Amino acid sequence: MRTEILSANDAGIERAAQIIRSGGLVAFPTETVYGLGADALNEDAVRKIFIAKERPVDDPLIVHIAHVQQLTLLARHIPARVWGLVKKFWPGPLTLVLPKTEKVPSVTTGELDTVAVRIPSHPVARKLIERSGCPIAAPSANRFGRPSPTTAQHVLEDLDGRIDLVLDGGPTPIGVESTVLDLTQEPPMILRPGGVTLETLQEILGEVRVLSSSSIEAAKRSPGTRWRHYAPRAPLLLAEPTELEQIVRDLLKDGKRVGVMIRQNRLQCSPDPAVLSVIQMPTDFSEYARRLFRVLRELDAHGVDVIVVETVEERGLGRAIMDRLRKASYNYSP
Ligand code: TXA
Ligand code: MG
Repeated sequence: MRTEILSANDAGIERAAQIIRSGGLVAFPTETVYGLGADALNEDAVRKIFIAKERPVDDPLIVHIAHVQQLTLLARHIPARVWGLVKKFWPGPLTLVLPKTEKVPSVTTGELDTVAVRIPSHPVARKLIERSGCPIAAPSANRFGRPSPTTAQHVLEDLDGRIDLVLDGGPTPIGVESTVLDLTQEPPMILRPGGVTLETLQEILGEVRVLSSSSIEAAKRSPGTRWRHYAPRAPLLLAEPTELEQIVRDLLKDGKRVGVMIRQNRLQCSPDPAVLSVIQMPTDFSEYARRLFRVLRELDAHGVDVIVVETVEERGLGRAIMDRLRKASYNYSP
């Protein structure tokens, strides 16, 4: 299969919508990361997503809509508190898990009887959904297990020849995926931290639980959390700020080429760029999130043997950043 690349102007979006309507696969920008879209109500089209990504079939997809009215097509029961959330956070990086209707094929939801839904705020994504005339199922447009794509180039690195089209809309502004919030339980539970923070959700909902990404419960409730994810090819080690320097020294002594992601560079050890690539990450969490997946891919391209990443504080977007780093890390085991 040849993969077309078009810029995300009106003509490009129209072509993409045609492909979606005829059951094909289109990668497109959202405000979080690039998604790999297909008609969410067309079983054969949705199956192609799992094949292209090599994604386990029991890992459910997020369904993207353009208007709140489409929610009733997908969700069987909509608890009253949904409307407050929708008013404040849609369009935007908040995905709501609700009981599904029979219209939603079970391939789309990995056989679960719930469906995950969001309205993306990226204008290209919304136009594409509108013109396609159907809800669009879209996981991140990477090969399963790889860092999520924040540019059209990243999509091609992983999926060239496996999908019909990539719409190039430039780099995505947020850089980490949406927050997945399960509203089928009381109190609501964050299954995956993301673009909308726990703190802001608490302001609206009061009590909100957070699924610990390493629990058995996590594997059951959010099947996508079971595997090593977002991972560069080189093993990734997480290091507390106080132990980072020693870990890097030991690895260099072992003859390893080391990549380091650190927010304030205070490393005293050999700055030889042949063996040590230090990437200074932004102290601001929004900028950090925007760069995170790109830097992981870049360090791979440098050909380092191991990547050492300094941990960040788990508040605000820092929670989503640490979640991705933990799942990308070498010894991650839920
Ligand atoms: O920002 C995003 O959410 C991006 C863009 C493209 O919208 N999409 C994305 O999709 O990150 P994906 O497939 O990479 O991650 C979806 C996550 C997985 O962890 C999956 O297990 C969870 O959402 N999920 C989807 N449907 C679910 C459901 N019915 N119940 C529980 N978890 C669900
Ligand atoms: Mg993903």
